[in-house]
Amino acid sequence: MQFIMDCLNVNEKGHLQMSGCDLVEVAERFGTPAYVLDEATVRKNCRAYVDSIKKYYGGNGLALYASKALSCKYMYRLIAEEGMGADVVSGGEIYTALSAGFPAERLYFHGNNKTLDELEYAIKCGVGRIVADNRTELERINKIAGELGVCVKVIIRITPGVDAHTHSFIKTGQIDSKFGAILETGEADEIVGLAASMENIEVTGFHCHIGSQIFELAPFELAAEIMMNFIADMREKHGVTARELDLGGGFGIKYTEKDTPIDYGEYMHAVSKTVKRVAAERDIPLPFIIVEPGRSVVAEAGLTLYTVGTIKEIPGIRTYVSIDGGMTDNPRYILYQSEYTAVSAENPEALRNSVITLAGKCCESGDLIGENMEISKLHTGEIVAVLSTGAYNYSMASNYNRIPRPPVLFAADGEIKTAVRRETYEDMLICDM
Ligand code: LLP
Repeated sequence: MQFIMDCLNVNEKGHLQMSGCDLVEVAERFGTPAYVLDEATVRKNCRAYVDSIKKYYGGNGLALYASKALSCKYMYRLIAEEGMGADVVSGGEIYTALSAGFPAERLYFHGNNKTLDELEYAIKCGVGRIVADNRTELERINKIAGELGVCVKVIIRITPGVDAHTHSFIKTGQIDSKFGAILETGEADEIVGLAASMENIEVTGFHCHIGSQIFELAPFELAAEIMMNFIADMREKHGVTARELDLGGGFGIKYTEKDTPIDYGEYMHAVSKTVKRVAAERDIPLPFIIVEPGRSVVAEAGLTLYTVGTIKEIPGIRTYVSIDGGMTDNPRYILYQSEYTAVSAENPEALRNSVITLAGKCCESGDLIGENMEISKLHTGEIVAVLSTGAYNYSMASNYNRIPRPPVLFAADGEIKTAVRRETYEDMLICDM
C-alpha cells in the first residue's frame, strides 16, 4: 500500500505504521490530537540538501533549515547534527535554538521588522548573519553594533521581481511585497550603497526568497540569474563584492496526489549551472550559496493523529466528520484553504468510498481540515491520520478556545520520543495574572 508519505506502511494488525511504531497504539498511549514525525525522513531530507550542495557546487554552500516550519529544541538539535544552519525569524526562535545548544554562528536572522530588542539580542548572542530587510533595519543594526563596539555581518534581502505563485511566473509580480528592497525601482541599489557606507556593518551577501510550495524549477533559475547579475552590478557600482548568495527556500511538497514536488538534486544542479554561467559571463567570483528549505524538510515526515467524534450527515449536501482538534493545531485550511489527505489509522487499506468534510472542534464554521476528502467510512472513536502536517502546523498552532496544543512526537526504530509534551490547562494559565 502506497501513501503520499513514503515513511508509512501497514503492519500485521492492519494498522498504519511509521518507523516501526503502530500509530493506533501511539494514539492510545499519548492521546490525540498528536503530531508524529518520522525522524529518519527528516534526516534523509536534510542530507538531500547537504549532499546536493556537495555534489553540484563543490560543497561551497550551506543549507539552512527554515525553522518557522517546525521550531522546537529537538529539531534544532537534529539539524545541528545534520550539519545544517538555521533560518530564524524572531527572538523566540533564536532563544529556542540557543537553548538547544545550536551554534549561534550558524543562525541567520530574517524578518521584515525585527524589533530593536530582537536586534540587540541577536547581535549580543553573536548570530552568524542578520538578513537586513530594509533601510530602517540597516540603520538600527549599525547603531546597535556601534554601541556594542562590534561589526555585524549582514546579508541584504532583495526582492528580485519573480512571482512564483502564478502558474507561469511573471517577472514583476512581486514588487508589491512587504519584504526586501525592490530591485526594479532602484531601492535595492540605494540600500546597498547605504550599507556599504556604514561603519559597523559588513555586507557579506544578498538574499532573495521567491515564495513557498513551488513546483517549478524555472522561477528559481530566473531568481538566481537576476541575483547574480545584481551581485555583478553592485560590485561595479559600489565596490561591494557579495561573497554569499542566499536563494531562500520554497520547495513544494506533496499534500495530495495532485502535488508534484521537484527533486532537490535537480534544483541544486540547475541553480548551480545558472550561478556558474553568470559568474563567468560577468567575471565575478563564485559565491557561497545558501538555501533555506523549511516545509520540504519536515512536512512529509509528519502527520497528525485525531479521534473521530461527532458525525453529521446532511442528506444531499455533505457529511461533517468532526475530530478532536482543528484550526488550533492546523490553521492551514482556515488561512489558505489548503488541501490535505486523510486516512484511517485503524483501517488504512479500506476502500476510500466516502467523501467527507473533516471538521475541527472550534466555535468557528471555517474550522475545517478539508472538504471533499476521500476516505473510508469512519466511525466515532476511530483514529484518523491527516498526512503531511510536519510543517507549519505545530509552529502555527494556537490556544484559541483555550484548547491545549498537542505533543510533538518523533518515531525512530520502533520507539517514540517526545520532542514537545502535550500542553496542560495549567500551562495555558502560566501568564494569567
Ligand atoms: N526563507 C524565507 C526568507 C522564508 O520567508 C521562508 C518561508 C522560507 C525560507 C522557507 O520556505 P519553505 O521552504 O518552507 O517554503 N505558513 C505558510 C508558509 C509561510 C512561509 C513563509 N516563509 C504555510 O503554511 O504554507
